[in-house]
Amino acid sequence: MSFSKRIDDAIQTAVRAAQVQPSPAKLASALHYAVTPGGARIRPTILMSVATACGDTNPKLADAAAVALELLHCASLVHDDLPCFDDADTRRGKPSVHRAFGEELAVLVGDSLIIMAFDVLAQAAQSDPHRAVALMQVLAKHTGMPGGICAGQGWESETDIDLSAYHAAKTGALFMAATQMGAIASGQEGPPWIELGARIGEAFQVADDLRDALYDEDTLGKPVGQDDLHGRPNAVAELGVDGAIGRMRDILGGAIASIPKCEGEAMLAKLVNAQAEVLTPIKWRAAQASGAAGA
Ligand code: IPE
Ligand code: IPE
Ligand code: MG
Repeated sequence: MSFSKRIDDAIQTAVRAAQVQPSPAKLASALHYAVTPGGARIRPTILMSVATACGDTNPKLADAAAVALELLHCASLVHDDLPCFDDADTRRGKPSVHRAFGEELAVLVGDSLIIMAFDVLAQAAQSDPHRAVALMQVLAKHTGMPGGICAGQGWESETDIDLSAYHAAKTGALFMAATQMGAIASGQEGPPWIELGARIGEAFQVADDLRDALYDEDTLGKPVGQDDLHGRPNAVAELGVDGAIGRMRDILGGAIASIPKCEGEAMLAKLVNAQAEVLTPIKWRAAQASGAAGA
């Protein structure tokens, strides 16, 4: 079964379990709305790729880990779009959750998804309690304080921002969780996989800065120009478009070099190379094909 089908089936199962009657109908539909249809599902795809590269020795646990990670990511997006944060009207090509269901329900959707993420792991623990606890610890560490997404969002309320801590927590954290959780689900140690996740996360942050600067709202399905609007430091302002693309590719080159020895090493290198292609803005890819890139 493809990774995307495994991920989507497992997410639907988790959401359906939260919709069992009696439950408040609007919150139940808002939960489904927040996770379906998904975005690129890049974090659970990386998680499953690493789990597979390490032998996929407990596929049910890998599925649970992938779902937990994606639910946490979806929760972070629902909260990030709220008026008290980025006040974004659209997400994934449709009205953001608070625009569609109201702010109160959007807060509750985010909260419910975070709790659901840990519950999915708790329920999968029977097959291997030791691995499941390790998965919960890694997920918690990369979600909360001091180094997870909460910290990343928290940096935006500071006047003196530690840029590398900010980016590592806001974007990098869930990628570091993805690679470690994939390894742990397959019975391997997590720490050797941190560097790969950190590098992919760093490249993803540069790619996100490029998308924010170069694309329009219809193409991205969410507001653009946000970095300039909120005065956030970003790679395009710092390096220009060509410089940012070069930086992203260098980081991904380093990511390939950091892949730990495992049976699926070559497959993972291919995945990272494919990401370099996907993350490069379309216009620049066309220019590169015609030999005009950087001109
Ligand atoms: C958006 O992440 C938020 C950032 C950390 C930049 P994605 O671009 O992975 O969002 P979806 O899940 O594909 O919509
Ligand atoms: C949102 O980050 C992702 C979180 C870490 C909560 P951004 O605000 O930079 O990304 P978009 O533009 O909303 O997807
Ligand atoms: Mg935002």
